[in-house]
Amino acid sequence: MQIDEHALADSAMVTAAAPGVTGGVPSFTGRVVGGNGRGRLLGFPTANVAPHEEAGLPPDGVYACWVAIQPSRDVFGATMSIGNNPTFDDVAERRVEVFIHDLAADLYGRRVVVWVAQLLRPMRRFSTLDELIDHTAADVRRSRAALQRMPRPEIE
Ligand SMILES: Cc1cc2nc3c(=O)[nH]c(=O)nc-3n(C[C@H](O)[C@H](O)[C@H](O)COP(=O)(O)O)c2cc1C
Repeated sequence: MQIDEHALADSAMVTAAAPGVTGGVPSFTGRVVGGNGRGRLLGFPTANVAPHEEAGLPPDGVYACWVAIQPSRDVFGATMSIGNNPTFDDVAERRVEVFIHDLAADLYGRRVVVWVAQLLRPMRRFSTLDELIDHTAADVRRSRAALQRMPRPEIE
């Protein structure tokens, strides 16, 4: 499960090449942009990713995934949320957000590769913030457990 470093120089090539070299795990690339800044308050600070292409993106939902922050070769486990955050009324567009496990860093402007490992649940509208927080914590626990059972993708 390795990715050719030259392919990483070109996001279109990564999208095209990744399924073959990661044993079927779909991937996409994007750049970290600003969110609404609520993630930190909720206890799960996320990096909002502006994907380079819509093509490789999975449908709305919560996913276990892997993330590499370029140009580093380190690959982190993460939990991803895709959708318009229906718990809040002020998010008009579809957001792609990754909560990266075991990493506290400002990734604004960085380019990332995301490998989509497993769907955990659909996106939901919660009636309280506590419900959203409890579900997010459970998602992260399930995501960690799922990723432990899978091989971690590598950047050569
Ligand atoms: C693992 C995870 C699961 C999430 N699930 C939902 C969800 O079901 N419904 C929802 O409205 N938002 C969900 N979110 C998104 C949060 O609402 C969002 O991260 C938070 O509002 C912070 O957004 P901001 O960075 O734009 O401020 C989820 C986020 C994460 C990390």
